[in-house]
Amino acid sequence: MLIPQPTSYVSHPGAWTLTAGTAVEAPAEIAALLRELLTPATGLPLPDGPGGLVFTVDPAADLGAEGYTLTVDGSGARATAATLAGLRWAVQTLRQLLPVAAYAAQPGPGTAWTLPYAEITDRPRYPWRGIMIDVARWHQPLPWLHTVVDLLAIHRMNTLHLHLTDDQGWRFESHRHPRLTSVGAWRSASPAGHERDKQTDGAPHGGFYTQDELRGLVAYAARRGVTVVPEIDLPGHTVAVVAAYPELGNFPEARHETATRWGIHDRVLNCDDATVQVMRDVLDELVAVFPGELIHLGGDEVPPKEWVEGESGRARMAELGLTDPEDLLGWWINQLADHLRGHGRRVVVWDELVGRGVPADALIMAWRGVDRVTAALHDGHDVIATPSSHVYLDYNESMAEGEPPSIGSGPTPLSTVYGYDPEPADDPRNGHRVLGVQGNLWTEYLPNPTRAEYNLLPRLCAVAEVGWGTAGELAEFRQRLAGALARFDAMGVTYRPLD
Ligand code: ACM
Repeated sequence: MLIPQPTSYVSHPGAWTLTAGTAVEAPAEIAALLRELLTPATGLPLPDGPGGLVFTVDPAADLGAEGYTLTVDGSGARATAATLAGLRWAVQTLRQLLPVAAYAAQPGPGTAWTLPYAEITDRPRYPWRGIMIDVARWHQPLPWLHTVVDLLAIHRMNTLHLHLTDDQGWRFESHRHPRLTSVGAWRSASPAGHERDKQTDGAPHGGFYTQDELRGLVAYAARRGVTVVPEIDLPGHTVAVVAAYPELGNFPEARHETATRWGIHDRVLNCDDATVQVMRDVLDELVAVFPGELIHLGGDEVPPKEWVEGESGRARMAELGLTDPEDLLGWWINQLADHLRGHGRRVVVWDELVGRGVPADALIMAWRGVDRVTAALHDGHDVIATPSSHVYLDYNESMAEGEPPSIGSGPTPLSTVYGYDPEPADDPRNGHRVLGVQGNLWTEYLPNPTRAEYNLLPRLCAVAEVGWGTAGELAEFRQRLAGALARFDAMGVTYRPLD
């Protein structure tokens, strides 16, 4: 019942049982992880010592950056990997081999902690296996983000992309520019029902994450081999920014408030040097919280209307000799990509930036269709495949009556996600690569963890297996999903039942 299915899995008759005497021989990080993950549910102390669980880094092992071998036999469990990252996945696979009660928060009665004899050799197809969570549309509780990290790590997924800012809320604490949260993290109301019904709930909503809270999340994720990639979405999806600081917009004298409606808004950042500088300041704070190399700068859905109508955009176009206002999007991203390079960072952007002259080392997140994967490769970029047609998890699995309200696109059933092959058929691709696949959970219609989990699970499992590269027959996958659902039950996580 392993998910993702390992690249090679041979089972043998017999089982070995962990006991109160079982010791761990492993690098300190791995021994600590085994105890952090297993001791609460099993009550086993798993002290350091010879025998039992043996985890070894062998830099010469031909297992890639994240691969591992895991053998369970009469003498215990032994794992080898070239890296700590590989050993972390071996820990997760070992945990999946245990009885499902291993996922409970505290010990239950009378479980024998058996591991079936097995020989596993395993390595992922793609280096990026991710989920994006939009915490801007609704501020989701911090503990739930820890749960999402758990869900990723259990499925050997290594990236949590946090969409921290949008028109309806700015969720990243900035000491330099505090109105981003004191004003921009709050809105006076939200849509009630579907956006097209134009009803309002009249209820204020808001919240943000302190830098310390996010540092805690980053550390929790890192112990599990998950990197958190933060996104500051700009220069569009910035109604909340302009509400906080109207001088960053194109019409400061207009009335401004954090958006209370979903959809694409015309309000974008202006093109003044001072505005770019404010965003540089924010990024300086962001990189101090998120140590990973990649920073997502958004760049999606930026209407050029205000740049054409306002003075700031027209002046910048004249200075740069631009005739297409949409090229200001490339200019904006380049200003910040250059700045981030000074911090040793690279940028990720949505596929609107293809053909807009962003640096060659920018990763493109291709979302508007599978053809955008190809377009980004041809434009000279490495790509994260996240097409809305296959892996937008905000789209409901079914449009049948009785399903909860959703963005209204789709449906995107489990079979569509599971059947996705991120590799575009056509070549050449300028030597550039698809680096991985990611499911995106936009949350306009997912105001709380229970709603979010309904859309996330179990489709996350399908994204994980596609990214790991072992997706096969759907019917066989659905059988293994029974194991995943039992794990979710043990964790106290909810999900959409299988059809
Ligand atoms: C997006 O879905 N607007 C990237």
